[in-house]
Amino acid sequence: MDILVFRLNHTSSAELAELEKSCFSDPWTVGMFRDSFNDPLTRCFGASVGGKTVGFGMMMAVAEEGEILRIAVRPELRRGGIGRALMQTMVDAAAEEGLTSMTLEVRASNIPATELYKAFGFEEIAIRKNYYEHPTEDARIMEKKLCSYSQ
Ligand SMILES: CC(C)(COP(=O)(O)OP(=O)(O)OC[C@H]1O[C@@H](n2cnc3c(N)ncnc32)[C@H](O)[C@@H]1OP(=O)(O)O)[C@@H](O)C(=O)NCCC(=O)NCCS
Repeated sequence: MDILVFRLNHTSSAELAELEKSCFSDPWTVGMFRDSFNDPLTRCFGASVGGKTVGFGMMMAVAEEGEILRIAVRPELRRGGIGRALMQTMVDAAAEEGLTSMTLEVRASNIPATELYKAFGFEEIAIRKNYYEHPTEDARIMEKKLCSYSQ
């Protein structure tokens, strides 16, 4: 499978909101994506296969820390390396910007995402009780220390 990863901007908000519906029980809306794209601290990457956007990853950079806000791949194309390609792009982007660490939150029951994050060296640093709604669930807080390319 040929996977192309590229930078996305606000013009993709509607497409990403559609993709979210097939991936999350609490999908982001078009307005939430537009707000995120308007934030200069946000970076968003899409992954395409055969010219169609089939996944995306969104992160935020605040001071020296990065936060992964979202990552999703169309259900029928999972386990094909698209999530890995998006994660690699975000980790590389964070290191190129000189960020020193990345954090994220993940539902405690979300094994695929947790395994993906572990494969990139993220480690659990805390549990946030009942953090998520629809359904109510704990969040794992995970962190990865980075060696920036500029060092
Ligand atoms: C998490 C998600 C993005 C992974 O995308 P993907 O394209 O299937 O991931 P990849 O094929 O690149 O897998 C990379 C690694 O992640 C781990 N992984 C992915 N899916 C897994 C699963 N179902 N079970 C166990 N490990 C899994 C494995 O380590 C895998 O490496 P391997 O294939 O060599 O074993 C995808 O499952 C998804 O969109 N889930 C719904 C949205 C979501 O929960 N997002 C995260 C919360 S913000």
